[in-house]
Amino acid sequence: MQQDALSAQRTAFGQEVYEGLTSFPKQLSSKYFYDEIGDKLFQDIMAMPEYYLTNAEMAIFQTRKTEIANLFSRTGKPFSLYELGAGDGKKTKILLQELIDQKASFDYRPIDISQNALDQLKATVNDELPEVVIDPLQGTYYETLAAIREENTKNKVILFLGSNIGNLLHPQAIDFLTQLKDTMNTDDLLFMGMDQKKHPQTILDAYNDASGITEAFNKNVLTRINKEFGGDFDIQKFLHWEVYDPESGTAKSYLVAKEAFTVTIKDLDLQVHFRAWETIHTEISQKYDDEVVSWLADQAGLEVTNSFSDADQNYKNYVFKTKKL
Ligand code: AVJ
Repeated sequence: MQQDALSAQRTAFGQEVYEGLTSFPKQLSSKYFYDEIGDKLFQDIMAMPEYYLTNAEMAIFQTRKTEIANLFSRTGKPFSLYELGAGDGKKTKILLQELIDQKASFDYRPIDISQNALDQLKATVNDELPEVVIDPLQGTYYETLAAIREENTKNKVILFLGSNIGNLLHPQAIDFLTQLKDTMNTDDLLFMGMDQKKHPQTILDAYNDASGITEAFNKNVLTRINKEFGGDFDIQKFLHWEVYDPESGTAKSYLVAKEAFTVTIKDLDLQVHFRAWETIHTEISQKYDDEVVSWLADQAGLEVTNSFSDADQNYKNYVFKTKKL
């Protein structure tokens, strides 16, 4: 990444840390979990037996790839396949292979904040699927959405997988969906993975695994503050705590101080006092059902045209189009 982009991100992070730790109740955004260590921890999470989301979406792609690819190429016109937050593209490669087998005319435009992730993705796609035309876009969702709006020449299919939308509360999700809708024309599709409401214990286990990987992932935001801003958090003094509200479908992650102490964050010129059992709210992972999804779509000027579920109804991929007026 370019130096100015790097320092801009660092400044945004620093500002959010300052604001989040001086407000009440304290909070830090889950988008800051992901540095090199956080990326690796998330890979480990996706491989855990408790984290059913990844396997469920993979199973949907494997069993329904023909229908999904048919849907993407249904107009017969060339299209661009955008993917927000592409990561390692493991699931997407199943669809790419199917589109190649169907001789669909498309190019693949993975989008990620991490240039490193994009470089690696491009290398493995070139190696494993040489027929795929891949043209990555580096940037935040916000920046790249603006770029997509500018390009707007070809038909589009936009992928947003892994229930990544679940990090947004409904009002923010509506805002984000509206921004996506504003890039879409009548023939374009949005294809989104959304984790479903289910037995509350299954959800708690997915975010509170026995091996402590999710705990390490959650605490990585404190480790980053120590490293990047000269903080002195003792992460052992925090508990990882997960709650799930079956009424709203919202899972929330916290770091809970086990005793009173004061943390100094040198580079932010900040001292933060924690009372015993004080919390830092770090993440939400929203769970959905068909009714909520239709409502979110409607609020954003979209409509659900199709959905694909795994056998246990644990997880769904929804297809959205712009709402006809
Ligand atoms: C990447 C946002 C989909 O909320 O399920 C996994 C991140 N957090 N375990 C999720 C996460 C804790 C994940 N998303």
